[in-house]
Amino acid sequence: MKNRILLSTLLGVLSWSMIIGLVLFWAPVQAQALEDPKKVAEFNDGCLRCHGAVGLKLKYQGQIVSLYVNENDFFESQHGSNKCTTCHTDIVDYPHVGAMKGKELEKAVNDNCQRCHADITKVYAKSAHAKANAEGKAVYCWSCHGAHNILKKEDERAQDYITNIPESCGGCHNHKILESYEESFHGKAVLSGSKKAASCASCHGSHDILGPKDPQSPVAEKNVPATCAKCHYKAERNFAKGTEHWVFERGGPGEPMYWTLKFMVWLTVSVITIFFVHVELDLYRRLKSLNRKDSH
Ligand code: HEC
Ligand code: HEC
Ligand code: HEC
Ligand code: HEC
Ligand code: HEC
Ligand code: HEC
Ligand code: HEC
Repeated sequence: MKNRILLSTLLGVLSWSMIIGLVLFWAPVQAQALEDPKKVAEFNDGCLRCHGAVGLKLKYQGQIVSLYVNENDFFESQHGSNKCTTCHTDIVDYPHVGAMKGKELEKAVNDNCQRCHADITKVYAKSAHAKANAEGKAVYCWSCHGAHNILKKEDERAQDYITNIPESCGGCHNHKILESYEESFHGKAVLSGSKKAASCASCHGSHDILGPKDPQSPVAEKNVPATCAKCHYKAERNFAKGTEHWVFERGGPGEPMYWTLKFMVWLTVSVITIFFVHVELDLYRRLKSLNRKDSH
């Protein structure tokens, strides 16, 4: 009997100390994770008092930089419940003493994207874009996602929503790549709203993009058939052969198509010319024979 009382007291004390310990441990963690949304909004309103003005600009290194932040877009965005200073960690208050500008600011903000999105950053580190970044050709997280208007990828207005991806990538890969895509079956389908046809990311991936020369790339020659087969299950032999991005021009991968097109155009022009000459000659012959009849 005595033993039982002793044991249950011990058990009670142990359970309670565990519960108290857990509460003491979790409380600060919770407080840190959930800052009072009202306070955050008040803080951001302080920044937006100035940065919510459309005309706020700064001349920096000879260029006019807009300092305007669209309030509604920001609050609606995925980061709308964050303080402005979660990304702009160098800013405390106004005046902005020693605040970063230009390239330095762009990179520092990017480091903050990467700090929170660590999983994606790990994947991204091996991509062609991270390599380009290391060589000073700025391709940042926000180059593809935007800054103050980032939405869930399922949102039709998001820069990484399937039908907006070509435009997001095409901001940098403009000219021939974008042009060839817009002319392709996939491009025509996606740009008119198809969510099934291939966007840039369906063939290239998003955070792990590598060039065709890298054997790991989904667009490396030997991997192309498998990449197409994700959607074209019953692909014929040679279906994936040939170049994906080509435009009608001499010297490029589109050269055979360029000459075929030229040939077809000239063929059409010659046939039509011969036809007209033929009709004209025939009319002339008929006129002449009529004249001959009249004079008799
Ligand atoms: C009283 C108006 C005002 C307030 C309030 C204000 N800013 Fe600014 N901000 C400016 C002006 C003016 C500039 C450009 C010149 C400069 O740096 O002072 C600027 C520049 C910036 C820049 C670009 C970096 C730079 O210095 O050029 C960032 C980022 C920025 N502000 C963020 C914020 C954040 C975040 C807050 C809130 C904590 C905030 N601002 C509050 C007026 C303001
Ligand atoms: C999710 C991260 C994020 C949050 C949160 C954020 N910003 Fe930014 N901000 C950026 C990025 C990225 C850029 C750089 C974009 C560019 O240069 O085109 C930027 C640029 C700016 C600039 C212009 C500086 C320049 O030289 O281009 C200002 C001003 C600014 N932010 C103010 C704010 C204010 C005010 C808030 C809060 C209402 C805020 N930001 C919240 C990511 C963020
Ligand atoms: C070259 C353009 C590009 C760059 C650079 C880029 N992303 Fe993305 N990101 C995309 C695309 C495209 C999607 C949509 C992928 C999909 O639909 O499968 C996406 C999706 C996402 C998502 C949605 C969730 C998920 O797991 O797919 C997050 C979060 C994200 N990116 C964060 C980042 C961060 C952080 C960085 C910087 C390390 C970054 N992105 C750099 C193009 C890019
Ligand atoms: C303070 C941490 C933090 C910072 C800094 C931050 N993010 Fe986020 N981001 C989040 C959280 C939390 C979410 C919403 C939950 C989720 O889906 O991951 C989110 C959502 C996103 C999404 C939408 C994901 C989806 O479901 O499609 C993208 C894209 C994204 N962030 C990119 C960025 C970029 C680019 C930057 C830098 C300009 C950035 N984030 C900075 C924490 C952060
Ligand atoms: C901010 C500009 C920018 C954006 C946006 C961008 N890229 Fe790039 N991309 C680059 C740069 C810079 C390189 C490095 C090679 C170079 O200098 O052309 C590169 C490299 C690549 C390569 C490898 C090329 C090779 O031959 O090695 C592919 C594939 C690629 N990007 C596809 C995409 C796709 C798909 C998207 C959209 C999801 C995208 N890019 C968005 C700038 C950009
Ligand atoms: C994300 C899925 C997806 C991927 C990946 C994809 N396709 Fe397609 N493709 C489609 C869809 C859907 C259509 C039908 C588009 C339409 O409405 O015309 C299509 C149409 C085509 C057509 C037009 C003729 C036809 O069969 O309808 C060709 C050719 C084609 N794809 C070739 C390729 C090749 C080559 C690859 C690989 C390099 C590839 N596709 C990768 C989804 C995809
Ligand atoms: C149907 C699959 C498919 C789609 C969709 C697609 N690509 Fe490609 N991409 C490829 C293949 C395959 C290659 C390898 C070279 C080739 O065949 O042209 C390639 C090569 C590239 C390269 C490297 C070019 C070089 O010469 O090194 C870039 C950059 C690129 N694509 C960007 C894009 C962008 C941006 C989009 C969207 C506007 C896009 N791709 C859409 C399959 C695709």
